[in-house]
Amino acid sequence: MVNMKISNDIIHIGANDKKIKLFESQYLLEKGMSYNSYIIKDEKNVIIDTIDENVTQIWLDKLDKALNGEKPDYLIVSHMEPDHAYNIETIAKKYPDMKIVGNQTTFNILSNFFTIDVSSRKVIVKEGEVLDIGKHKLQFFMAPMVHWPEVMVTYEQYEKILFSADAFGKFGEIDDGEWDCEARRYYFGIVGKYGTQVQALLKKAQSLDIKMICPLHGPILKENLEHYINKYKIWSSYEPEEKGVFIACSSIYGNTLRVANKIAEIIKEKCNMKVVVGDLTREDWAEAIEDAFRYSHLIVAASSYNAGLFPPMQQFLERLQDRNYQKRKVGIIENGSWAPSAARCMKNMLEKMKEIEIVEPIVTIRSTMKENDVPKLQELAKKLVEDTN
Ligand code: FEO
Repeated sequence: MVNMKISNDIIHIGANDKKIKLFESQYLLEKGMSYNSYIIKDEKNVIIDTIDENVTQIWLDKLDKALNGEKPDYLIVSHMEPDHAYNIETIAKKYPDMKIVGNQTTFNILSNFFTIDVSSRKVIVKEGEVLDIGKHKLQFFMAPMVHWPEVMVTYEQYEKILFSADAFGKFGEIDDGEWDCEARRYYFGIVGKYGTQVQALLKKAQSLDIKMICPLHGPILKENLEHYINKYKIWSSYEPEEKGVFIACSSIYGNTLRVANKIAEIIKEKCNMKVVVGDLTREDWAEAIEDAFRYSHLIVAASSYNAGLFPPMQQFLERLQDRNYQKRKVGIIENGSWAPSAARCMKNMLEKMKEIEIVEPIVTIRSTMKENDVPKLQELAKKLVEDTN
């Protein structure tokens, strides 16, 4: 990846990590991960964020090339998570005169990660303050919990560019031609819990004239910015993005999965809503979380286990709850061979979430689906989607 010019004075010096398999050691990556870092060249040279450990050398080479013998005057730290901040110490040692720009919380966290003394070189900025580097003026806006408490975004007033930190980022390489799906999986995985804080940032962004968004992951967004902003508005409000049913299934021997596929078939016959079945035991959990938020309706179908709930479903519901899952109609299907217990557990967990309407009847299957189970599935399907046609 060569240095990419964002404009006459702004250069992207980020890198793709094609080898990484798990982001944050938990999110599956099929197409690697991109980490963006930028340089603004003006009377003062500014680096916006460092980079992940795995791509350190690529970044250092690109930085050298972009600086072309000059020195950086400032490093802006948007976010202290190591996927961006790992190389703060490296670069601070290499350029001892370089100032480090962050907010008070940035420096509190920085001192937990690094032992370097930054007391004489730190520049503490507050909401709305501007760093004047010549033609370019950098204005800072705090974005706490999008994704850590110290996160801040930078609005470059001359070229009208928002350096948005993790916001508007995605999994995958920088230019793999796809945004919605991997940005959604990234959003609900990483900041799904913090809808209110994302909305606060969107409100601040609304008052700015933004021509380009430069996130810390994924492509530089230059056109049709409304599309991305609208997705963030929907996701952060916890409203469904589209009409559809996500059927999340955790099945031990395949019998519960057959029931899930049967109700999917029944729903498809009843309406033209999209229906997606997710196998929680074999498929990527973050994809299932993403689909639960994406669609308007949810069915949870699970086996009973140890007088409780089969663990993949337990974990799925915990993860939804962690991310403030809300505002959905939910159907429940359980399977049990001697004392079915899954429905009680799922209902208890769902009742702890906000604005969840549990649709009756709750369906109990005994070991395998039989002919006389079908009318109960039909009734659940009818009640679940009755308001959608
Ligand atoms: Fe891309 Fe929260 O770090």
